[in-house]
Amino acid sequence: MASFALAIAFVPTSALAQTPTVSPESVPDVLVRERGTWLPKVAPVEEDYSRNCQGCHGHEGHSVQEVPRLQGRAGWFTHTSAGRAYLVQVPNVLQSSLPDERLAAMLNWLLTQFSGEQLKPGFEPYTAAEVHALRAQRIESVIARRREVVDGLVRAGVIPDAAALAFSLEPGRY
Ligand code: HEC
Repeated sequence: MASFALAIAFVPTSALAQTPTVSPESVPDVLVRERGTWLPKVAPVEEDYSRNCQGCHGHEGHSVQEVPRLQGRAGWFTHTSAGRAYLVQVPNVLQSSLPDERLAAMLNWLLTQFSGEQLKPGFEPYTAAEVHALRAQRIESVIARRREVVDGLVRAGVIPDAAALAFSLEPGRY
């Protein structure tokens, strides 16, 4: 029992030495404050994802079947210019409250983090200027645009068929 207690006392101390942490007092979560849990500090880019996107897309880029999976898939869109534009112009991205520079950084992080293997070879990261220009053009129908973009990826041989990017709110099911 004594060694068990010792182990518990030791693990967080050594972990604290390596990982930057956030004090429980600065976290607006009742349990975290009550229990005095020190949380690992996340990079600003991850925090932007958590606050703006994670609620729907999940901590690791996948969640419920009504929301398209980003993990292992989002990178395919970077293979065509229409797909690259779509990633910025999809409504929840275009309308997010993040300024262009942070949105560009977060998209680059998201694509490498969740879907690095699917990225176009030699993928050039989004810049703030590119994001700014793309954000100025709204798409009329996300359903129609997504279908065009996915068909374009099939024609270009990037994905075998539209099923590779299917999710349950696809056209016809909205
Ligand atoms: C309210 C839920 C919700 C939020 C919040 C949200 N998304 Fe989405 N996202 C969706 C849905 C649903 C789609 C499918 C297209 C559509 O209906 O707009 C989508 C599509 C996408 C796509 C295109 C993937 C595809 O297969 O079509 C990307 C990339 C994406 N979202 C990234 C983000 C990012 C980055 C954020 C944060 C800035 C974000 N989303 C916030 C629900 C959400």
